[in-house]
Amino acid sequence: MKKNRKFVAPKKLIMPKVSNKGKQMPESPIRKLVPYSEIAKSKGNKVYHLNIGQPDIATPEVAMNSIKNLDIKVLEYSHSAGFESYRRKLSQYYKNHDLRIDVEDIIITTGGSEALLFAMGSTMDFGDEIIIPEPFYANYNGFSTASGVTVVPVISTLESGFALPPIADFEKLITSKTKAILICNPGNPTGYLYSKDEMLQLAALVKKHDLFLIADEVYREFTYDGDVHYSVMNIPGIEENAIMIDSVSKRYSMCGARIGCIVSKNKELMATAMKFAQARLSPPTFAQIASEAALDTPQSYFDDVIKEYRSRRDILIAELQTIEGVKITKPKGAFYCIAELPIENADDFSQWLLESYDLNKETVMLAPAAGFYSTPGVGLNQVRIAYVLKKEDLVRSVAILKEALKVYKTK
Ligand SMILES: Cc1ncc(COP(=O)(O)O)c(C=O)c1O
Repeated sequence: MKKNRKFVAPKKLIMPKVSNKGKQMPESPIRKLVPYSEIAKSKGNKVYHLNIGQPDIATPEVAMNSIKNLDIKVLEYSHSAGFESYRRKLSQYYKNHDLRIDVEDIIITTGGSEALLFAMGSTMDFGDEIIIPEPFYANYNGFSTASGVTVVPVISTLESGFALPPIADFEKLITSKTKAILICNPGNPTGYLYSKDEMLQLAALVKKHDLFLIADEVYREFTYDGDVHYSVMNIPGIEENAIMIDSVSKRYSMCGARIGCIVSKNKELMATAMKFAQARLSPPTFAQIASEAALDTPQSYFDDVIKEYRSRRDILIAELQTIEGVKITKPKGAFYCIAELPIENADDFSQWLLESYDLNKETVMLAPAAGFYSTPGVGLNQVRIAYVLKKEDLVRSVAILKEALKVYKTK
């Protein structure tokens, strides 16, 4: 007869361990000061959020109306690549913007974030390397860690306005493990917009070394001063190398919808990304309906939004320039800028602003820029500022910053 084996608990209970990969996941520099902002708010202080790219712009009415009176009996999964009707309309939208993108070149994702994860998962194996000009969108570090990929930074400088580093700097970093170059255009956090010439230089480089060129273009619409955005999907001859990341989050101020897409003409890449898409079943249904409807947003909406961001940028830059010791370059696109402050450690300063400072019960929250670099020790005296607040609030925020810097210096 079979004896019942009893489970005997070990004398000393040992805690199950989390993964090393999990331990290595970086904290978001944008959100890590949240507990301190909560302390500031609990003291009754108002906090101006310059730290996060959550626009205050209203989502287009066509998008909101599309989901208001839906009569859906079963909230089903959609196709793993997203609704066909949405992909068709999106393809037409791109064609209207001179990008020859067909339905089969698009997979709808849960935000641009998931598109980035699919791009990394489909192009890179554990231990492979991705070259990224820094400072870069901080979550690229997180996506790379989650994908087991090593980020190899190539530095761009405030002095050059964060222009593309010389191609020779990229070339020096290419090894047998390099699989891709990732750029953000226009840039978060730099606000830099790569020129056609810079894009063509990158194209020649990826072609020469057989690499993927992943372009995060989620801020494509937001360019100022008449500069034209030149997409990775516009470059002839690199159809097999080019991957575009897109999102509705910023374009339509629909960050909570969680809809984006991965786009490429490379069939093998798209078939691979599709397997990742199938594994997570489908992107959210309601949000796809709203995103499809958002494509009918009138041009006047964008004209107004861009005008608003441009004037916010101009006011922010003009105000920051009145502070002695602040260095800044004028962003050409997106809605962020990097400012160098006359301090040594922006982490300490940003925490102090929330924990220990207020000007008439008001303070500001900044994103310390070191978290946007992967080279240790770089950007320590820089912060990223998002100009997503209305103009009066931007003016007030900079006034608080100016006074705070004076107090901080004497501390
Ligand atoms: C450069 C960049 N890429 C991707 C994302 C992710 O966007 P999503 O909300 O579509 O996941 C963001 C969000 O702020 C971003 O700034």
